[in-house]
Amino acid sequence: MAPIEVGESSIMTKVLFVCLGNICRSPAAEAVMQMIVEKAQAKDRYRLDSAGTSAYHAGEPADKRMIARAAHRKIHIPSIARQFVYKDFERFDLIVAMDESNYDNILDLDEEQQFHSKVVMMTDYSSGKFSHYNSVPDPYYGGSEGFDLVLDLLVNCCQNLFNHLEQNKR
Ligand code: 4NP
Repeated sequence: MAPIEVGESSIMTKVLFVCLGNICRSPAAEAVMQMIVEKAQAKDRYRLDSAGTSAYHAGEPADKRMIARAAHRKIHIPSIARQFVYKDFERFDLIVAMDESNYDNILDLDEEQQFHSKVVMMTDYSSGKFSHYNSVPDPYYGGSEGFDLVLDLLVNCCQNLFNHLEQNKR
């Protein structure tokens, strides 16, 4: 996506999804949320992006396995990996961490604890058969079933997050 400018219209809700490498979970979360926002014809009210707490894969497209499993559901993942930067605390309204380690690493960067309330866990929004998850499991070292599980979980969490944001707006 295009870089988000500071001062962009406050009508926009700006959400950043964060994992470790920004090649599996967070680009998938961004793409799933984009699909939900587009289906709800709310595209002009949301700016979505993703980042990694590490720079291991900066500049790379998403993992081929995640791209393939998402494409199977007609979800397109266009993201190019980048590292989370301090300015993201100012640029975004909500920063959504995939696991506890991502969450802690993000909060560690906010030394003055100015932005802690913007940082949440993706699984804060899980429901039904996914409600027992307290993190989005890292699929990187596993098989294709791990990527499908991540996508199932993200569809559930992102829909609930979208509903929450819509309800709290008006
Ligand atoms: P992600 O998955 O954090 O969901 O993008 C990973 C990607 C790369 C590595 C670990 C997790 N890695 O160790 O390179």
